[in-house]
Order: sequence, then structure tokens, then C-alpha cells
Amino acid sequence: MTHDKHLATSLDNGPEDAWVSVIQKMDEAYADLVRYQVEVEEKNLELEENKQFFDSIQSSMSDVLIVCDHSGYIQRVNRALEFLTGSVGESLIGTRFTDLVESRFLQKVDSFLNQIRIQPVRDCELELKGVDGPVPLSMNCSPRKNRRGRLVGMVLIGRPLGELQKAYIELNNTHAELKLAQERLVQSEKMASLGRLVAGVAHELNNPISFVYGNMHALQRYTARLSLYFDAINEGQSRESLKAMREALRLDKLIRDLNSLVDGTMEGADRVKEIVNDLRQFSSTQESEKKRFDLTHVIRTALHWIIKESKHPVEVRETVPDGLFAFGHSGQIHQVVVNLIQNAVDAMIDSHEKILTLNAEQVAGTIEFRVSDTGSGVSGENLSRLFDPFFTTKPVGQGTGLGLSISYGIVSEHGGKLEISNNPTGGAHALLVLPIEESPVV
Ligand SMILES: Nc1ncnc2c1ncn2[C@@H]1O[C@H](COP(=O)(O)OP(=O)(O)O)[C@@H](O)[C@H]1O
Ligand SMILES: [Mg+2]
Repeated sequence: MTHDKHLATSLDNGPEDAWVSVIQKMDEAYADLVRYQVEVEEKNLELEENKQFFDSIQSSMSDVLIVCDHSGYIQRVNRALEFLTGSVGESLIGTRFTDLVESRFLQKVDSFLNQIRIQPVRDCELELKGVDGPVPLSMNCSPRKNRRGRLVGMVLIGRPLGELQKAYIELNNTHAELKLAQERLVQSEKMASLGRLVAGVAHELNNPISFVYGNMHALQRYTARLSLYFDAINEGQSRESLKAMREALRLDKLIRDLNSLVDGTMEGADRVKEIVNDLRQFSSTQESEKKRFDLTHVIRTALHWIIKESKHPVEVRETVPDGLFAFGHSGQIHQVVVNLIQNAVDAMIDSHEKILTLNAEQVAGTIEFRVSDTGSGVSGENLSRLFDPFFTTKPVGQGTGLGLSISYGIVSEHGGKLEISNNPTGGAHALLVLPIEESPVV
């Protein structure tokens, strides 16, 4: 039965019934109202909680948040911005966002609204007018759209650059420290190989010095004999006695020897000079320009010094032609060659047969230099690590593990190539390729 029918019947039944039904209707309407009221209150509470939730997020953000309408008027800010500008949120709302920006950045900011139609702005550095002066920020700006996808404004988030800058500075400092440490390591590897060479050089210097010394002794004795003879001449002794004296003192042979003694001494002094020159070239820290240099000479000096110093006899098979020239810093390439030969000699310490093979040839615009040994070779898992800094299989104090890594850097910088592989017959094989002429870095 419908309510109207019910009401009509009740009216038919008399006025009391009608009132009862009106009251019932009111009761029902009131109950509905109460229910709606409860629902509304629940929704309000939910809304309130959501609002608080978002407010708490916004106020705990350390980044600055600004919401603008599509004309750039501020609609909402967070506490970080209030803090930065020293103004309360309400006083900022309705003002233009650009009023907060330091004038020299206005041009950048003006284009934000147009830019975000295409894509969001990322990491744009600008300064806002802070309570204590300009505050540098890195700004991101994204479009704000309504449900239908129309642009209704923009959301700006700025991260104070103070933090970032601090991080940058720290990063820079660490980088500088690392660079310094690396330079020191490079230098120490150089000193280590120089140290090993010094013993060889000492031997090398000993040779010419000892025969210069011997020659000087001979000259000293000769001078004594010549003085005796000249004294006799001064005293006016007879021709016969002078002749006898000349024979007794073997002066004719002495005169014949004199030239070769002087030549030998000169040669010795020249040799010392050459060695000192080679050493100086190797130990120089900064080299001038790259230029063509005698690679054969570099290879032979390196080989000579290392073999001299080697405690175990090594059979050397060297087929490096005279006068092969390469282009670059001879001192640096010397360091590379020394390391390759030294590594080969080191690898043969425990080998029964110790054969070091060096050859070099010109191939197109390059020189290919190969060092091969009959040593231990390199195990499979180590092959890929040879050029890693600090990778060494040598005991502490004997290897820095930097030789090949530094060599690799030097050779790449020269536009060349450095490869290490194993010989099929055992031992390892190093290939160094260097340009003959100036060439772009590959
Ligand atoms: N000719 C070679 N034969 C065998 N192993 C080699 C050879 N050359 C280099 N290696 C390996 O590469 C490692 C790294 O060499 P390197 O960078 O010159 O450092 P270091 O000589 O100080 O160990 C060596 O410790 C060795 O294990
Ligand atoms: Mg080495």
C-alpha cells in the first residue's frame, strides 16, 4: 500500500488516524535526516583527516612548494616557502609567483608557463627573495591539469641549492684527492721501476768508469816514465845514454799506447754521458711535446738495463731493426717497454728455460713491438684483470700492480694499442702498437 492511499484510508477512518500517519512520516523523515547527518559528519571527518595528512606532508617537506594558477598567481605554498621568505602563507596567496623571484632570473621564469605545455621544467637554477637575501634553488615545474586534462596552473618544487652545492663541493674535493692519490701512485710505480733499474744502471756505469780509471792509472805510470826521460834530456845526457834509457823505459810502445788510452777514456766518458742522458729522459716528470723518437734505442736501453739487473741468466733473442721511429713521449714509452720486459723476466723466474724474445716491425703507419717469454703465462681468470689497477700476483714489495694499468693509459693516450695474451707453446706475449706519425687518439 502506498503512503498516499494509507493516508486517504486513515482520513476515512477519522482525524486521529490521519495524525498518527503524519507523525509516522515525520519520524521516518527525521530518522533519514539523522542518518544523513551522521554520514556527512563521517565524510567531513575523513576529509579533515585527509587534509591534515596532506598538510603534514607539505609542512614537513624541506623542498619549497608553490602552486600557481594558469596566470602565475599563487594558490598554495608550504611551510618551507614561508620559512624561506619569512612571510605567512595567507599573505602570499593571490600574489604573483614572479614577485618572489630575484629580478635577474625573471626571464627564465617567464617562459615556465609556455614550456610546461610541452614538457615539465627540470632542475632550473634560480634565486628566490629570501628573508636573509637571495636563496639559490633548483626548480622543477610541472603542469597542473583539471579532470578534463586542461591546464589550470603549475606546481613548482624547489630544492635549496645550499645542500646540493655542499654535496658538489664534497664531491669535487674527493675527486681532487683521488686525482692526487692517483698521481702519487703513478709516480710511485715509476719510482719502483726506476729503483729496479738503478741496480742495472749501476752495473752499466761501472764498466766505463772502471776502464776510464784503469786508463788513468796507466797514464799516471807513463807520466812518471816520461818525466824521467825529460829530466835526462834536461841534464844534457849523451845521445847513447838517452837511447838506452828510451829502450829501458819502453817509451816507443808508451807513445803508441797513448792515443788508444786517450781514445778509450773519451769513449768511456761518452758512454757515461749517454747513460745519464737515458736516465734523465726516463725520470723526467713532465715532458714537453710529443715528437718522433728512436724506439729501437728505447727498447735496447730498457732491455740492457733489465737484463743486467736480472739475477737469473736469460737468453735474449732480439730482432729489433735499427732506427725504428715512433711518435710520442719517449720517456713514457720507455716506462711501458721497461714494464713489459720486466714482467716477462719476472714471469720466467721459475721456468726451466728462460727465453725472452723481442721483435719489432713497421706495419702500415705503426710500429708493432712484441715481447714474448717462456714464463708462467697468464691464467684464464686473470687475463681480463691484467690492466686493473693494483692487480698483481707478485709478493708484497715486488709488484705494485700498477705497471700495466699505467702503461695502458699511456699507450691509449698515444693512440696506440697494448694487448697481452698467452703463447700457444706456453708463456705470455705482449703486443705494443704505436703510431709512427702524429695521429688522432683511437
Ligand atoms: N709476461 C707475463 N707473464 C705472466 N704474467 C704476467 C706477465 N705480464 C704481466 N703479468 C701479470 O700481470 C700482473 C700485473 O702486472 P703489472 O701491472 O705490471 O704489475 P706488477 O708487475 O707490479 O705485478 C702481474 O702481477 C702478473 O700476474
Ligand atoms: Mg709490472
